[in-house]
Amino acid sequence: MYRTHTCGELRLANVGQTVTLAGWVQRTRKMGGMTFVDMRDRYGITQIVFEAPPAGGLQGTGLQGAANALGREYVIQVTGTVNERSNKNANLPTGDIEIIASELRVLNASVTPPFTIEDQSDGGDDLRMKYRYLDLRRTPVRRNLELRHKMTMEVRRYLDSLGFLEIETPMLIGSTPEGARDFVVPSRMNPGQFYALPQSPQTLKQLLMVSGMDRYFQIVKCFRDEDLRADRQPEFTQIDCEMSFVQQEDIIQTFEGMAKHLFRELRGVELEGAFPRMTWDDAMKYYGSDKPDTRFEMKFVELKDVFAKAPGFSVFDEAKYIGGICAKGQAVYTRKQIDQLTDFVKRPQIGAKGMVYARVLDDGTVKSSVDKFYSQEVLQELKDAMGAEAGDLILILSGDDDMKTRKQLCELRLEMGQRMGLRDKNKFSLLWVIDFPMFEWSEEEGRLMATHHPFTHPKDEDIPLLDTNPAAVRADAYDMVCNGVEVGGGSIRIHDPELQDKMFRILGFTEERAQEQFGFLMNAFKYGAPPHGGLAYGLDRWVSLFAGLDSIRDCIAFPKNNSGRDVMLDAPARLEQKQLDELCLETKTPPNMPNKLH
Ligand code: AMO
Repeated sequence: MYRTHTCGELRLANVGQTVTLAGWVQRTRKMGGMTFVDMRDRYGITQIVFEAPPAGGLQGTGLQGAANALGREYVIQVTGTVNERSNKNANLPTGDIEIIASELRVLNASVTPPFTIEDQSDGGDDLRMKYRYLDLRRTPVRRNLELRHKMTMEVRRYLDSLGFLEIETPMLIGSTPEGARDFVVPSRMNPGQFYALPQSPQTLKQLLMVSGMDRYFQIVKCFRDEDLRADRQPEFTQIDCEMSFVQQEDIIQTFEGMAKHLFRELRGVELEGAFPRMTWDDAMKYYGSDKPDTRFEMKFVELKDVFAKAPGFSVFDEAKYIGGICAKGQAVYTRKQIDQLTDFVKRPQIGAKGMVYARVLDDGTVKSSVDKFYSQEVLQELKDAMGAEAGDLILILSGDDDMKTRKQLCELRLEMGQRMGLRDKNKFSLLWVIDFPMFEWSEEEGRLMATHHPFTHPKDEDIPLLDTNPAAVRADAYDMVCNGVEVGGGSIRIHDPELQDKMFRILGFTEERAQEQFGFLMNAFKYGAPPHGGLAYGLDRWVSLFAGLDSIRDCIAFPKNNSGRDVMLDAPARLEQKQLDELCLETKTPPNMPNKLH
């Protein structure tokens, strides 16, 4: 037996017992003729004491000598007696005790690790990713994985209690229509042909509904070749669900229930009442985003009418959209701080041309950066429209593209929220965004594209508009948003082949292409497809929210970096010529080039 207890387990009640622990050497220090070793495993840290040899013996010989020779991260096994500590460490759960060692066995040596394996490591991001297996020994990272485990357990418990079946679907499939690029896998046995890794099991779960599986779920890896951000990884995990004989309301109830269950079990938070629902139109109007951070208000106010009364400032006169936000109590902002905000909105990623500001002074008068164009009367109207009071700061953006300007104002709002401390990680604001538009115009493709995916059901009352004004059709689609993060999304699906055909036509699919890409699904739908719908939660995003992480990378055991590389495995990599030949593949880059091109 390697151990009788873990390094996080022993307490005062164990004093006097002989125990054996196994783990890693976190740190050794010599003090008062004794050697202390902090021994670590997944469960905690226990202090081991190696006493000086009895009188006559040479200090630092024997057992103590062996302890002195231990390096950081050596794997050791120690037997000894549990002793009450004289100087207790209140910061450690095991801080009341120590082990007086009587035996020490080195199970394995370690070279010096490239960074300190402590809560606050001295290792930079890249180094920690390269040696991720060492990074995972650190408590904060390990805790994230523990939380992830607990979450998947609770998800399974909740869905099982409602009769959902966990069913695996294949990873080597054809293209799935989620709108991102596919990762593809060449087939040796079918030269020149490729599998695609699923962007989600969307079509497969719909086929399971045709099979009568009724309530399906899967905690499943999904793959999307898209630009990466803090909340996006090229491979990520969905809690993917589908239900038959349901309407939007049933799905919302079921998965709101799951969110409440997770908050209760994992955060000890009881979320009372139904989550608010906001239409997509309102989300865009008031927050410039389909995933509004509703931890704070600061809603957009449209100001076109206010400024139209006094033309003269060409930027506003020519703008299609003028919108403002009111930052409560921030009139104290200095010129320098305002300049910083202006630089922020002008960054290429945001792309605003400039920012107009107005301070409401203590006496109620308004002082703005456009004073020379507008009378105090107009500025007072601005103040009223914004609902601003003495001490408030009004920030205004304008532009000739309505949607783009709203998105810029959204960034500014989030930045102000951040600066004003309104985006508290311990506060959770959940809502459903509903009534998404069915289609969006793609400049790139020059056609209407499905906002969600081509199987999404239009709202019944909007079906007639499919023939007359498809751009105005709303979908039975819904996203769950928490603190400005889209944590899940889904829709009611089309189960009527005729409606599906129509949808493909509007999306510009020829009959042949629709058959080629989705024939399998269309055919299945001829055999009695039940009404169905579903949703997928982003597991990584839920864990990050619960753990208060800035990036989903931190709750993934072996994540990719922002260029989609696994720096630990040095993947992706070129293939050997032999492998390329077997796959009948030729690449445009010579196969003997190094992996990384600079
Ligand atoms: P959707 O594309 O909205 O819907 O994805 C569902 C949820 O998955 C998470 N997510 C991601 N998480 C991390 N990295 C990514 N790259 C990433 N992309 C998406 C988000 C998102 O809300 N098949 C549909 C679901 C359905 O209709 O039932 C789908 O995949 O939290």
